[in-house]
Amino acid sequence: MAKDSKDTDTDAGILREPAELQFRAQLDALKQHDADTPPSAWKLSPRSVLAYITGTAKPLDLTINGKKTQVAITRKFFGDDTIVERAIVTLASERALLLVGEPGTGKSWLSEHLAAAISGCSTLTIQGTAGTTEDQIKYSWNVARVIAEGPKPENMIPSPTMIAMKTGALLRFEEITRCVPDVQDALVSILSDKNMVVPELPDANMVFARPGFNVIATANSRDQGVNELSAALKRRFNYVHIPIVADQKTEIAIVRDRSKELLERYKIPAKIEEPVIAMLATVFREMRAGTTADGISFQKVSTTLSTAEAIGVALDSAIRARYFGNGAVSIEEIARNLVGSVVKEDLDDLKVLKEYLAVVAKKRGAKDASWKTFHDAALKAVTSAS
Ligand SMILES: Nc1ncnc2c1ncn2[C@@H]1O[C@H](COP(=O)(O)OP(=O)(O)O)[C@@H](O)[C@H]1O
Ligand SMILES: [Mg+2]
Repeated sequence: MAKDSKDTDTDAGILREPAELQFRAQLDALKQHDADTPPSAWKLSPRSVLAYITGTAKPLDLTINGKKTQVAITRKFFGDDTIVERAIVTLASERALLLVGEPGTGKSWLSEHLAAAISGCSTLTIQGTAGTTEDQIKYSWNVARVIAEGPKPENMIPSPTMIAMKTGALLRFEEITRCVPDVQDALVSILSDKNMVVPELPDANMVFARPGFNVIATANSRDQGVNELSAALKRRFNYVHIPIVADQKTEIAIVRDRSKELLERYKIPAKIEEPVIAMLATVFREMRAGTTADGISFQKVSTTLSTAEAIGVALDSAIRARYFGNGAVSIEEIARNLVGSVVKEDLDDLKVLKEYLAVVAKKRGAKDASWKTFHDAALKAVTSAS
């Protein structure tokens, strides 16, 4: 099998390569097999972009310098494929894309892979914060050179937006609702007129966007109230809602695949057995919902128990098992780490967890040894936390 760069370049000294490098072999293979015409300036056709993100059943042949190898196209984003389809269609249209959802539902992850597959570049990114300025969205100047030579195009420091416009690439705008409204509004003219005016330049004071330019923004629905998008900006985005993964099987698959990949990256040879992952996913799912499949209800926790949190618990448990245990991730390990993840800022969540242990885990423990192990370890951790 042809290797993605993650298998060959891990000693290059980069902790985390952008998707377009990490999955280069997959992107190249899809390009060689692309039967459709990509929209102008896209690296792949929409069908191939979808295949890159949702994976293919069979590996594809990849020919490099006459040598043929096989590349498996892995699934990157788990969930409803029509969500991905709608996102791709939006990016091929006039409108920009806004991925909204709870934290940890894979919005940034999906945005990175979309940009990698469509533009071959996922690093033109603006991270929205309360301190993001209009300069960071548009451009700034090399002040020393402007004093010496006056404002000239060469003395300009372009923003990721400007580079994306000039090269016809996708701009990623993370956490857009954290930016103050005035700053967000800098995007309105860029999105509607597809150009940026640079009034300081005497002539050629317009930067025009090339075909292929568009914006993928993400926003957390929990932060919505912080700085909601203005009506003008809302109109220029298609909203695609990313839900928390709906079914148990999918959630298990995400935790399994992602933690395996992360453990490889940190070169930690720990394996998490399927039943342990299934237990973790079950507890997360039930605590999130406040009910169990067999009809027991209890209070819901106030923190988001996203899939990303579950991956975090799996990873921490594996690291601990590797360095302080025997390498195998046990249910006890998972139980201990889970307590910290459930009980963050709100101590009331500790009560909820106790209730869950008492009404759900204990009962199951009477019949099932793994649940008993889980119950005992979690109760011990809860008691020492309170
Ligand atoms: N549906 C999903 N498919 C694949 N990975 C997911 C999914 N949901 C969460 N993840 C994983 O969770 C982690 C955090 O996701 P991220 O994109 O940072 O969340 P968000 O931006 O929505 O807060 C990533 O490692 C990602 O791989
Ligand atoms: Mg994010």
